[in-house]
Amino acid sequence: MTPGADWERRHAEAPDLGAPAAVLTENLHLAPRQGRVLDLACGRGANALVLAERGLEVHAWDRSETALERLQQAAAGWRIRTQCRDVIEQPPAAEAFDLILVAHFLHRPLFPALRAALRPGGLLFYQTFDQHRLTGRGPSNPEFRLRDNELLTLCQGLAIRHYREEAAVGDTAAGRRDLAMIIAQRPPTEPG
Ligand SMILES: C[S@@+](CC[C@H](N)C(=O)[O-])C[C@H]1O[C@@H](n2cnc3c(N)ncnc32)[C@H](O)[C@@H]1O
Repeated sequence: MTPGADWERRHAEAPDLGAPAAVLTENLHLAPRQGRVLDLACGRGANALVLAERGLEVHAWDRSETALERLQQAAAGWRIRTQCRDVIEQPPAAEAFDLILVAHFLHRPLFPALRAALRPGGLLFYQTFDQHRLTGRGPSNPEFRLRDNELLTLCQGLAIRHYREEAAVGDTAAGRRDLAMIIAQRPPTEPG
C-alpha cells in the first residue's frame, strides 16, 4: 500500500467530518479573534471549521486529497485555504502563524519547526493519544502514542497555558481518557 492510501480510504468512508478536538472546543476562549491559523494534518477538517467560524484566516494542510475535498464540500460559505502537503517534508515556515492546531497526529521531530512557525505570542493547541488505551481509540503502534507527560517535554521553550492528561487515575469511565492535550505559547518577545 502506498503511504497514505489507508487514510484516503478512511476519509472517503467516514460519514461526516468527525468531532472537533476537545483541546479546541473546551478552550476556544484562549484563541485569538483574528489572525492566521493552521490546522496541521487536518484530516476532514472539523477543527478548521471551528477556527473559521471564529473569524480567523484558516489554512488547513493534509496529504490526503480526499480529506481536503470533504472539508471543502462541508465548508460552504467559509473560506478555508486547503493545501495538499506532506507536513514532514514541508513544515510551516518560521513565524507564519498566530495559532497552530494539531490533533491526532504525532511526528516528534516536527516540534522545533512548530515552535518556530509560531509568531511571537502565538499559540500551539496540541492533542493526541497517550499510552493508556482505556477507550480502544487511537493507533495500535505505541510509537504513535505519547509517553507519560511527553507533550510537556516536546513543548519546552514555550509557556504552558493549559495541560490535561488524566492517564488511568480515578474513575476511568469518566473524564477525557487516552488523550493528552496542551496549549503552549511562544513568548511575546524572545529573551535577548
Ligand atoms: C488521525 S488523522 C487526524 C485528522 C484530524 N487532525 C483530526 O483530528 O480529525 C491523521 C491525519 O494525518 C494525515 N497525515 C499523515 N501523515 C501526514 C503527512 N506526512 N503530511 C500531512 N498529513 C499527514 C492523514 O492523512 C490524516 O488525515
